[in-house]
Amino acid sequence: MQRRKFGKLDFDVSLLGFGCMRLPTVAEPDPDSPVGKIDYAKAVEMVRYAVDHGVDYIDTAYSYHDEKSEVFLGLALQDGYRERVKLATKLPMWKVTCREDCDRFLAEQLTRLQTDHVDMYLLHSLGKDFWRTVKECNVLEFLDQAKADGRIKYAGFSFHDDLSLFKEIVDAYDWDFCQIQFNYMDEHYQAGVEGLRYAAEKGLAVVIMEPLRGGKLAKGLPAQVQSLWEGRGGSAAHWAFRWVCNFPEVTVVLSGMGTMDEVKENIATMSEAAPNSLTEEELALFKQAQAFFLERTKVKCTDCRYCLPCPQGVAIPEVFAIWNNAVIYDRPDEGRWHYRNLLEKNKAADQCAACGQCESVCPQNLAIIELLQEAHAALV
Ligand SMILES: NC(=O)c1ccc[n+]([C@@H]2O[C@H](COP(=O)([O-])OP(=O)(O)OC[C@H]3O[C@@H](n4cnc5c(N)ncnc54)[C@H](OP(=O)(O)O)[C@@H]3O)[C@@H](O)[C@H]2O)c1
Repeated sequence: MQRRKFGKLDFDVSLLGFGCMRLPTVAEPDPDSPVGKIDYAKAVEMVRYAVDHGVDYIDTAYSYHDEKSEVFLGLALQDGYRERVKLATKLPMWKVTCREDCDRFLAEQLTRLQTDHVDMYLLHSLGKDFWRTVKECNVLEFLDQAKADGRIKYAGFSFHDDLSLFKEIVDAYDWDFCQIQFNYMDEHYQAGVEGLRYAAEKGLAVVIMEPLRGGKLAKGLPAQVQSLWEGRGGSAAHWAFRWVCNFPEVTVVLSGMGTMDEVKENIATMSEAAPNSLTEEELALFKQAQAFFLERTKVKCTDCRYCLPCPQGVAIPEVFAIWNNAVIYDRPDEGRWHYRNLLEKNKAADQCAACGQCESVCPQNLAIIELLQEAHAALV
């Protein structure tokens, strides 16, 4: 297992981190099970196998698996496993309304995890709204206090918004680490490669989430992309991981693994994925894959969010992202499912009143009104 130094801190961690958001589940859970739908026997075997084979970074959150992922880890890391890993979990920012909430959630998490401290504590999913909450509820003071009294060792945040906000947040506090979405299709999305390098230069360890774009870069790929990796000794997942690991600024790559085979394969991949180890020829293959996917992109929206807030509440970048993903990865049902969620929240394209405010500020000069109509027709 490759190991990388944790930013400015004086220890290293395994390159592969175990993400506990997609553990194996059972169809009909025992109503008395403390871990809900998680398939305890399979999942505990996978986590312990990973630790026994060099993985020592484990990531979970208050909300994963209907709030059972932390409970699962509290049990799975018994028998000495807790002491062998750095355990990361996250403050559910969408539930925080005051400073006291932070203490309350952390106390609950320590109980669930059956531990007296969390090694890596993150503010979950920062974007503009939750960053406001951080300031209004003095959450940074809470982090200082929790570090000082030993409830948490290191403080970080996970991020889903644009690059300028990412830089603002990086600069606003003495963070130990951050967690960003990064894969060969998201090189310039959200924090992207510029954010990765910005954070690393400031001494933050950078933990990667969604390295396979939630699995879309691993399974069910169009033949034109799948064929790029054939004959090269490794699956599409292997090569997608290798792209991420090639960046020396990347510290940990989280993988949400659902089977033991995936655990074994990803351990093998991360054992050889040294920084800057891809050849020019291999890097060119990723450019081909990117070009193929980009050609299928319906809307060249960069998610800069200048179009927001929409007076009618239309979640414009989300509508376009759902449409793009449905077409690029050929997953129409998944697209319709996500779009139904927006419809239920009155944030879908059917709310558009064609006022044109968004079009007047879109730096890409997109014909947003017309594109929203097309997206709606394709997704309902
Ligand atoms: N803080 C945040 O806002 C946030 C957001 C997202 C994720 N995360 C964290 O980051 C972790 C990683 O993100 P992610 O789970 O989205 O990662 P990902 O690696 O992009 O996607 C995980 C999916 O990839 C598939 N997979 C994994 N290894 C594979 C292999 N060797 N071959 C084929 N398919 C493979 C699995 O699909 P199957 O399930 O079909 O087997 C799995 O569900 C999460 O588990 C979570 O801990 C945090």
